[in-house]
Amino acid sequence: MTAPHPSATGTESRPALPRIAVVGSLNMDIVLRVPRAPGGGETVMAESLHHIPGGKGGNQAVACARQGARVHLLGRVGDDAHGAALRAALDADGIDHAGVQTDTEAPTGVACITVESTGENRIVVVGGANARFAIDADALDTALRGADGLLLQFEVPLPQVQAAAARARQAGCPVVLNPSPMQPIPDTLWRLVDTLVANEVEAALFADCEVRTPEDAAHAARLLRALGPERVVVTLGAAGAVACDGSGCRHHPGLRVQAVDTTAAGDTFLGALTVALARGESLDLAVQTGVRAAALCVTRPGAQPSIPTRAETAASPLPPDWSRIA
Ligand code: RIB
Repeated sequence: MTAPHPSATGTESRPALPRIAVVGSLNMDIVLRVPRAPGGGETVMAESLHHIPGGKGGNQAVACARQGARVHLLGRVGDDAHGAALRAALDADGIDHAGVQTDTEAPTGVACITVESTGENRIVVVGGANARFAIDADALDTALRGADGLLLQFEVPLPQVQAAAARARQAGCPVVLNPSPMQPIPDTLWRLVDTLVANEVEAALFADCEVRTPEDAAHAARLLRALGPERVVVTLGAAGAVACDGSGCRHHPGLRVQAVDTTAAGDTFLGALTVALARGESLDLAVQTGVRAAALCVTRPGAQPSIPTRAETAASPLPPDWSRIA
């Protein structure tokens, strides 16, 4: 159950496999392909309907595993067919899900997703069992033992996210936070985060400034670094990402691709970046790997099936060089 994804091959810069703990949501995605999303009061006919494993926690765990990490996932599913299917999907990627709880009262989380012909999506999540996730201290300690990083998002209750981050900090494990879906971050949590990865909308709201350009993103990232995280990365969709740390800010341009479905692109970026950092790569190389992996993800339909392996990422085109932002 803990073997790396079979096709997650590539040259190792460290002998040991990186170990990543993920605490987060598992959803069954109900995906409707539509020519265009309906407006208010409007009905449109879907072209297809698929059930696809998803959820930000599950997706990020899969992204880490396919980049060659050993992954422990903590979360919660219902005692139902969706929960069983999600566990089977984790097994297929060699992810240790002993820390995924089974809720006998609440159903597995579900995400209703429309995907338009442009690849753009709209997502509504019914939290279900995710909303009742509560940290099991023993399971968390097992996941954090020897871990090179803890990856967190906001689809499970905030107090649990905060408790996991605090425990990781005590254990000396770096914390990567993806504050999505967005909600206010308490000061105490800001100070526990080593690397924050936010999209342009989240960064704008947290920093209380406009984020339209890479320069705006760098400005927002500098403001957010002052709240605690050593590194802040602002993702900009097709325009790439801006990475800021103590040595300044850089813009990493995106890759031009034909978007089929943008679902899980952010999760793919997070997983690839987290594993690269765990391997000891620089922030810029880690962001570049994230940009390449996310670009591949958007060319494929669905959440977890669209996430590339390390070998696929390494074989993909390199984006244009990154540039410093004054
Ligand atoms: O980030 C994409 C994910 O968001 C989807 O898989 C869906 O489950 C929602 O959680």
